[in-house]
Amino acid sequence: MNDSERQELIKAAIDVKNNAYAPYSGYYVGAALLTDDGTVFTGTNVENSSFPVGVCAERSAFAAAVSKGHRKFKAICVTGTRNNNPLIGNDYCMPCGMCRQFMTEFCDGDFEIISAKSAEDFQVYTLSTLMPGAFMLFGTML
Ligand code: THU
Repeated sequence: MNDSERQELIKAAIDVKNNAYAPYSGYYVGAALLTDDGTVFTGTNVENSSFPVGVCAERSAFAAAVSKGHRKFKAICVTGTRNNNPLIGNDYCMPCGMCRQFMTEFCDGDFEIISAKSAEDFQVYTLSTLMPGAFMLFGTML
């Protein structure tokens, strides 16, 4: 993945974060997912008054992409802001454990996970470093 792809992904994640539905936690999360053919899908967290029903931004992005027929992915960027207040600024938002497992279904260990505060301030991980020894029922995606 090159620098311009990474910058495009970071921008998409920061932009979509404004659409987060997070009235309960006040933590707005945006995710942008890059497929192997260069398409970008975005997602936000969507909370629910029955708290466990809510979904994370990463899984929304994956669901959007998979439902359009995509199964191979290069990278995801995640960004989060408390109370969506630009004065507070973005966090290095890390994917939760459930999302790491969700990614494992579709992504190899070298799948890139970018946690971005801004276009200039971000950290890059791989799925294998964030999800070592992941559970796979048959050892590979079906
Ligand atoms: N959240 C995400 O969307 N992605 C993450 O990686 C961590 C947490 C959401 C879930 C919930 O809506 C809010 O952040 C606070 O936990």
